[in-house]
Amino acid sequence: MEILVARQAGFCFGVKRAIKMAEEAAGQDKEIYSLGPLIHNRQVVAKLSEQGIKPVDDLKDIHSGTMVIRSHGVGAQVLEDIEAKGLKMVDATCPFVKKAQQLANQLQEEGYKVVVVGDKSHPEVTGIVGWTRDQALVLENAEEAKGVTRYNKIGILAQTTQPVENFLAVVRELAGRCQELRVFNTICHATGERQDAAVELANKVDLMIVVGGTNSANTQKLARLCRDTGTPTYHIETASELESQWFRGKEKIGLTAGASTPDWIIEEVKEKMTELKDMETNQPENVEEEVKSQADYMAEALEFRGVRRGDVVTGTIVQVRDDEVLVDIGAKSEAVIPLRELSCSPCDDACQVVQLGQTVEVMILKVEDNEGRIICSKQKADARKALGGLEQAFQNGEIISGRVTEVVKGGLLVDVGVRAFLPASHVDRRYVEKLDQFVGQTVEAKIIEFNPAKPRVVLSRKQVLEEKAVQQKQELLANIKEGEVRRGVVRRLTNFGAFVDLGGIDGLLHVSEMAWYRVNHPSEILNEGDEIDVYVLGIDLSKEKISLGLKQVIPNPWDKVEEKFPVGSVVTGKVVRIAPFGAFVELEPGVDGLIHLSQLSDRRVAKADEVVQIGQVVKAKVIDVKGQDKRISLSLKEAEDNQAGAE
Ligand code: F3S
Repeated sequence: MEILVARQAGFCFGVKRAIKMAEEAAGQDKEIYSLGPLIHNRQVVAKLSEQGIKPVDDLKDIHSGTMVIRSHGVGAQVLEDIEAKGLKMVDATCPFVKKAQQLANQLQEEGYKVVVVGDKSHPEVTGIVGWTRDQALVLENAEEAKGVTRYNKIGILAQTTQPVENFLAVVRELAGRCQELRVFNTICHATGERQDAAVELANKVDLMIVVGGTNSANTQKLARLCRDTGTPTYHIETASELESQWFRGKEKIGLTAGASTPDWIIEEVKEKMTELKDMETNQPENVEEEVKSQADYMAEALEFRGVRRGDVVTGTIVQVRDDEVLVDIGAKSEAVIPLRELSCSPCDDACQVVQLGQTVEVMILKVEDNEGRIICSKQKADARKALGGLEQAFQNGEIISGRVTEVVKGGLLVDVGVRAFLPASHVDRRYVEKLDQFVGQTVEAKIIEFNPAKPRVVLSRKQVLEEKAVQQKQELLANIKEGEVRRGVVRRLTNFGAFVDLGGIDGLLHVSEMAWYRVNHPSEILNEGDEIDVYVLGIDLSKEKISLGLKQVIPNPWDKVEEKFPVGSVVTGKVVRIAPFGAFVELEPGVDGLIHLSQLSDRRVAKADEVVQIGQVVKAKVIDVKGQDKRISLSLKEAEDNQAGAE
């Protein structure tokens, strides 16, 4: 049986952020409340209440302590009430919801009839409506929109978890019921991404398990979408609800979870599913193995009184030799740690790992070798200790760190207390050609495979980088504003522009926005890897696209042309273009002046190239300058007359 987890499942950015903020607040105040349960997940709420975070339904009985505003947000009046009561406040409203609240407030102030497309009873919608002094109209679908009377100006936005089709249907319906319609797509893509990933997976597997609160609307929707694919689907809250008969005869099982389901519940479910399958297939073998190891164990126990193979004991280093270390473990003779058993990293010199007099834990490997010595391992004792923590990190999806010790076939070895394997494909988000650059570095990674019996620990640094990138992207999208100047790194040049990494998302800098003069190819002014300041020209949140400008952050050369090229002055420039009505002369990059045919010579000129050629450097007199219109008129004949007069 293969278990496949949807590529997007579990906590979204907003929920993760709210829980983190609440937990941090719990560390600072003993009285912590949240207005309503922090998320729609009973297990998480129970865990949070163990940390002292109590959900309350209203403010009336609360007179002190800290109030956490959950990711759904609240209306303006509620915030004022909290302040008036003198409570401390931690506002964990999701930045995407906050944006919707601000838009609703702004539209209301500007005299629009605010329409929120969403579920009337959902707290997020109630909160948004609260930012319009409760004046906004909530519509659940296009059918309801049909009953709306005519307004002059309508401003429409959506509950963040709305299906986009429903939102558009309402927009279409309202378009004919007002003179002016402003539409803001405030739908959060986290929900859509989870739904797409769940449907994609449901189409590939024999059975779907959807994990999440049965009171969570978004988890119910996920389960419904999975069922609609025709794949049998179970919606559960915890691993204890799994039943082994569901998996009988199934080869591929899909697993997904709602936005309010934490990673640890997903991992618990995954583990339980594996267990149910293992119970069916592996039991007889395991029993045999167990009996055998017990027999071994007993035999070894007889060999050395008090200490048995596999025991971990504490000792003191009494001698450090080139190829081994002697340790006093209180036995009749000193135990030996061979060099290879000192550390999971390659080691040539024992002094780099241990020192004389140091207290260490060692695992007994042999009670007596050929020479009657006790052989033990520091590395295995360290590993046993580390495995407990690693198992927990694996189950909770925690990030661990370790030092890269060497490059091996197919990847890197990382010291995380045991020797872990980091496959080359999981080293980075992009292909890494030279893996040896990582040797000696400390890297952060998640455990993607864990088998304590072998032990086998497989890591993914890529997963950590991807999660960080998603978070960065969401934070960037929530905060970036048009008109801002941001710093970015040029990632890729194309014929039509450059992609600039703003930290989580690449914005497009079109070639026409690069300079005040004509740029034929981005490579004329940029190189990949350049760090540049860019101006945010436009943001399309629904498509996650950002358009950038470069010329806006540098002075416009036309701004001061009147000062630089005053009327009457004689200037030098190069002929860059011939037109039917004259020749263009470049006075500086981005500033071209025109010598009209009539200004080329005293005689009649039919074509400019009778007098000047492209590339020719000429002196011309400025006869008119209009910086605002980007026009400079030049005269060749007047410059020549001037010169003749002077001579
Ligand atoms: Fe989550 Fe915020 Fe979107 S709470 S679903 S990231 S609006």
